[in-house]
Amino acid sequence: MKTAVIGLQWGDEGKGKFVTYMSRFHDCVVRYSGGSNAGHTVTFPDYKIVHHLLPSADVFKGKRMYIGPGVAIDLEVLVKEIEEIDGIVQGARNLLRISKQAQIVTSFHKKLDAKIESRRIHRIGTTRKGIGPCYAGKAFRTGLRLEDLEYPDMALKRLKESLLVWNEDDSIAEKMMEEMIEYYLKVEDLTVDSLSAVRSLRDKDLLFEGTQAVLLDIDAGTYPFVTSTNCSSTGIHAGFGFPVALDRILGVFKAYTTRVGEGPFPTEIYGDEAHELRQRGGEYGATTGRPRRCGWLDLPLLRYAIEISGCNGLAMTKADILSGIEKIPVCVAYKINGSLYECVEHLRNLEAVEPVYEYVDGWKSVESKQFEKFLFKIEKWLNAGVNYISKGPYVEDITIR
Ligand code: IMP
Repeated sequence: MKTAVIGLQWGDEGKGKFVTYMSRFHDCVVRYSGGSNAGHTVTFPDYKIVHHLLPSADVFKGKRMYIGPGVAIDLEVLVKEIEEIDGIVQGARNLLRISKQAQIVTSFHKKLDAKIESRRIHRIGTTRKGIGPCYAGKAFRTGLRLEDLEYPDMALKRLKESLLVWNEDDSIAEKMMEEMIEYYLKVEDLTVDSLSAVRSLRDKDLLFEGTQAVLLDIDAGTYPFVTSTNCSSTGIHAGFGFPVALDRILGVFKAYTTRVGEGPFPTEIYGDEAHELRQRGGEYGATTGRPRRCGWLDLPLLRYAIEISGCNGLAMTKADILSGIEKIPVCVAYKINGSLYECVEHLRNLEAVEPVYEYVDGWKSVESKQFEKFLFKIEKWLNAGVNYISKGPYVEDITIR
């Protein structure tokens, strides 16, 4: 069985926890895109693990992890995360393999990320983890891959070249290389060629862990306010390095919407209303600590994301956060130039749409009949079943319907 878990909004849908849960039914969790811009928080009663680069596999149950060639690797973050997880479950590091063909995020990429942001007229609000510059370097063919560090002299030449291409002083190259090698040596034993990883994994039950989400996908999302990869399901083949046939694409959405960074957000709320939802949901970025922008569930965008990601199963998260609110606003359509649209075919001019709300009766508890009624309504509106519900902060709070 091959399954993908994809975020259907602007990230932070609670994918990490869901992936950990789903990993129990698979052999290995594969990360195929993004880098340490991701922050997948997984909460167990005794531990909280924030995965930036490591796949959110349930290592307590011995589930394997693979970081594919499509991932941008910040070696310092990777080493720290491996040490952390190994401290929680001894030997967990041995469950991990990393593609030698993955790109390396350098300190220069992070510096450049911040510099480009500061010069933009319309900021993206990136995480400043060097993601855009790293993938740009990959496309420019000035990037370094993990395998290059096996030949430090050649890698140093390439690093100098990449700095010069960006008009940067290359005298920092030796020091940068020294640091990279130091971290690399700590993970070298876990690196493998993509083909050998594919050979050992292709017949296994694989779970592909999407990072960010459909609306942040570089092609399908709210361009230019997106990340730098195909983080939707379309990125899986390239990011894993093998054309997998997926049995299921499970889309995860929150019962409301959040966004970190800039860009259009039709159902955004402001002031005290936003503050209350942010506090209830603990809506602060796991990677940057930034307060997330908050708003109500947006069905036209959700329908778009479901369709364009090819999603054929749904998981709803954080409905418990809305418990106790008397009437829950749900955006069921957009008004555009006086006409109503339940779906959108593109994401242009989202700033100009007027959300049309229905107010659904709230519930006191997610175990109540009233909550079931809300779910039925959502399923009717989406014309699709919600297969999984996350009813609380822990992995064990996920239930199948
Ligand atoms: P970048 O990926 O750091 O270049 O940031 C591009 C956009 O994607 C910004 O709006 C970020 O806030 C957003 N972003 C990147 N990673 C995540 C994530 O894991 N969750 C939510 N938003 C993200």
